[in-house]
Amino acid sequence: MSEMFVVRGGVPLHGTAEVCAAKNAVLPAIAAGLLTEGTVRLRGAPHLLDVEAMGALAEKLGGKVAREGEELTVSGAKAAPARLGYELCARTRASVLLLSVCLARFGKADIAMPGGCAIGSRPVDLHLKGLARMGAQIRTEHGCLCAEAPQGLRPASLYLDVPSVGATENLMMAATAAPGTTVIANAATEPEVEDLARLLVGMGADIENAGTDRLVIHGGRPLHGTTHAPIPDRMEAGTLLAAAVATRGSVRVTGVEPAHLLPVTAKLRECGCSVMECADSIAVSAKELRAVEIRTMPYPGFPTDLQAPMAAVCCTADGVSLIEETIFENRFSYADELKRFGANIRVKDGSAIIRGGAPLSGAGARALDLRGGAAALIAALCASGTSRILGVEQIDRGYERLERKLSALGARVWRV
Ligand code: EPZ
Repeated sequence: MSEMFVVRGGVPLHGTAEVCAAKNAVLPAIAAGLLTEGTVRLRGAPHLLDVEAMGALAEKLGGKVAREGEELTVSGAKAAPARLGYELCARTRASVLLLSVCLARFGKADIAMPGGCAIGSRPVDLHLKGLARMGAQIRTEHGCLCAEAPQGLRPASLYLDVPSVGATENLMMAATAAPGTTVIANAATEPEVEDLARLLVGMGADIENAGTDRLVIHGGRPLHGTTHAPIPDRMEAGTLLAAAVATRGSVRVTGVEPAHLLPVTAKLRECGCSVMECADSIAVSAKELRAVEIRTMPYPGFPTDLQAPMAAVCCTADGVSLIEETIFENRFSYADELKRFGANIRVKDGSAIIRGGAPLSGAGARALDLRGGAAALIAALCASGTSRILGVEQIDRGYERLERKLSALGARVWRV
């Protein structure tokens, strides 16, 4: 029986919440841990369904994944080639990151094509094109990506048509195993990509310009274990900030890197919130909110993963807000769920027009993907009366016990 959240809305959130290590930094880090026979220790890895799914994939490849207190340890000591079937790969799209790891370690890979999901078709053509240029022969059969590099991977000069986070991560890991210099131009500059580079350097890799759109990797060096503290989860932080201002509360999120949230805090100020940034925390409060225009862009633009939670904020802001989604082709599936609370949202040509200000009322809604589920939960926190959010497992994919953090801020939310 799948669980649901029951919410009695209308309570402004107050207090402090600590964010976890970033899901989208931990997932590639688990893949990177298989590149060495040593042990990679990941500090503060959150308990998330996606993290468990990635750990299961690593173990299917013979890796050893364990939790030791606050640390998640990964070792590739006994790793060996194995087919990673769809039932495991479908649980997290980060499975595709094991392509580079298997080619680097075993010279071959056999991985089910990652599923699409609620936000779009999610192609992997840039991953495959780059790996092919590095000497991999790749064919697809029975829904699996079968790749071989019998002579090993070779360095290459690569250009990404789109600054893809996953393709950058896959190709950077592959390049650490290719003796010589690989350049990745138009690389993604997301903090999670820079964090993976930092981890690989900690494992002995030689990577220049980490965090920029032109990565230079001098590959072929042996990699060893290390201890790594992944960056804070800017998406969890942004979601908590959105819940705080949507309910007209006053909340401080701690354990964050404010610079990673610049596009979000800039937007919150623009719509009338007061925002205070300290070394590792951000405090927000809101009384009246004005409508805003948001356009999702690759980092440092507004993150596509936070447009859904911000849409819920816009439903409570006076005026007409516009959200333009430029990264994924279908990332407004949550709009129909927000309408169930009385939100006035029209989705047209890749944009959402939100007429905010009318009070929201409690309703039943479903989490269709993790960020859309967070948006529905925020709407429920603002709505008068009782709401039910179905499909909580979607939210658990990317948020560790979100209802506990919200309850600690005064929200009346229960998991049943
Ligand atoms: C990562 O997905 C994140 N996932 C996503 O978070 C995030 O939304 C996305 O980056 C964008 O920031 C993880 O890090 C695990 P992309 P990824 O490759 O790597 C196109 C979450 O649940 N593209 O940067 O799959 C693609 O269609 C997720 O937290 C190609 O065309 O995203 C999209 O339009 C949701 N060909 C754009 O690039 C390719 O080969 C950006 O995708 C690869 C991508």
